[in-house]
Amino acid sequence: MSITEEIKELKKEKNAVILAHYYVNPEIQEIADYIGDSYYLSKVAVNLKQQTIVFCGVSFMGESAKILNPEKTVLMPDMSADCAMAHMADIKTIQKAREEYEDLAVVCYINSTAELKQHSDVCVTSANAVKIVKALPNQNIFFIPDRNLAHFIAEQVPEKHFVYNEGYCPVHEEIQVQEILKEKEHHPQAEILTHPECPKAVREMSDYIGSTSGIIAYAGKSECQEFIICTENGVRFELERQNPAKKFYFTKTEPVCHDMKKITLEKVRNVLENGGNEIHITEELRKGSVSPLERMLELAQ
Ligand code: 13P
Ligand code: SF4
Repeated sequence: MSITEEIKELKKEKNAVILAHYYVNPEIQEIADYIGDSYYLSKVAVNLKQQTIVFCGVSFMGESAKILNPEKTVLMPDMSADCAMAHMADIKTIQKAREEYEDLAVVCYINSTAELKQHSDVCVTSANAVKIVKALPNQNIFFIPDRNLAHFIAEQVPEKHFVYNEGYCPVHEEIQVQEILKEKEHHPQAEILTHPECPKAVREMSDYIGSTSGIIAYAGKSECQEFIICTENGVRFELERQNPAKKFYFTKTEPVCHDMKKITLEKVRNVLENGGNEIHITEELRKGSVSPLERMLELAQ
């Protein structure tokens, strides 16, 4: 039996379902029951009939699924797959901002630890952040942890006052303007599609800025036949699957999230087989962090 057949069998036997983010390796996306961006995956996670969720992504994703579904078993193929940015804010700074500004909403990117969510008013993902921030009654917004996404939202919501935090995604931060210009030189017709975690200079030269699923949807609808993609290279799989006639280019230094790439078929099979790497969250932390996630699901509808 091949490893993918083994995984299929184990899924049935264990009443399990596989969720995968667009950044994981293609062979994992191929065996997943649901593939998507972080907003889609958090929505899907609350409507599953299976008892066990195998989350092929980084820890904040599995953690959010567990917070929203405490009665389910959430397994991570690799417990060390983490998002560096998720830790780039601290509770003291949140408390200080709350003291400083009346009417402050602490808006937390879903790429954050459960502890940070616990101290936030609402969560967002890159797919729904603008809509949610606009809908909040608060005038002052402290956005954690990502400064790039914060600035992108602030540009779309100029009527609100933003307080910034110095977190960033090490993968998107490294995408170089010079390398994009080089691709544009070779493919002058190509449109530049960018994730909002990229720095301002990259966003400014882009034709479209959006979440991973936003980028995929835009590429599908656009008349254009060629695209320079400024996000993690895992999205190539879905872009090419949906648009076999179109061409997708990445910068010479391809953006790779090594944590997302830690997920392998063997690790998926192993956790299905032995139930290892289960996410556990204390009831206190779960209770504290669930409402920002639920508020996101409500406001994003
Ligand atoms: P999406 O919300 O677009 O899936 O992005 C998640 C992420 O980790 C981007 O680096
Ligand atoms: Fe985190 Fe960046 Fe990896 Fe996304 S690409 S999971 S933001 S480190």
